[in-house]
Amino acid sequence: SSLTQDELKTLVGQAALQYVVPGDIVGVGTGSTVNKFIDALASIKSTIKGAVSSSVASTERLQALGIPVFDANEVQSLSVYIDGADEIDGNGNMIKGGGAALTREKIVAALAQRFVCIADESKRVEVLGKFPLPVEVIPMATQHIARRFEAMGGVAKVRLKDGKPLVTDNGQHILDVTGLSIQNPLEFESQVNQWPGVVTVGVFAHQKAAVCLLGTAHGVQTLIY
Ligand code: A5P
Repeated sequence: SSLTQDELKTLVGQAALQYVVPGDIVGVGTGSTVNKFIDALASIKSTIKGAVSSSVASTERLQALGIPVFDANEVQSLSVYIDGADEIDGNGNMIKGGGAALTREKIVAALAQRFVCIADESKRVEVLGKFPLPVEVIPMATQHIARRFEAMGGVAKVRLKDGKPLVTDNGQHILDVTGLSIQNPLEFESQVNQWPGVVTVGVFAHQKAAVCLLGTAHGVQTLIY
């Protein structure tokens, strides 16, 4: 029997519960896979203190299920951050931001001792860059940053919503960059981070995954980096 992508997401969302430390506050990401994790988390909510969330959408879902949400400034460190990815390579480097939540995701990931990535096998790649790279930018720098990506062989487009630039949870815009092949994610992330007007680049190499729970046709595979 073959599982649908939705069933794979449910499986990895449930599997992530084993990384939740009783009595702790858990870092929670954003996306359709994380939604499965949040639903599973609700079933053990009495064993945890609460969550720190990476988006308005996840905060609303957590609160609707009765899970207390803390501000990131209220915690010093988290044992674990659980989130999905748009792409993950063989070393645990990721592209994230398909849901436009990359800045808060990187902040909460940085608070955590380890990042547990939950994903179906369609996300697993050899080289990052096939998925359009999300970059959150200060609007007045958009065209300058787009030209810098063009000089690297990329094509950058402003993400739209209802015909207008999408506005992030932080009041900024998103560029989606196609045509990149990111051979050295750590170096690439450091480089783009230096460009004025870049809020967050969607390469997670400095905050890469420590573990990936990958949903495959043969069940959940645990990859450790
Ligand atoms: C959100 O900004 C992204 O980083 C998500 O983690 C990513 O898009 C994965 O979402 P799905 O679980 O819906 O594929």
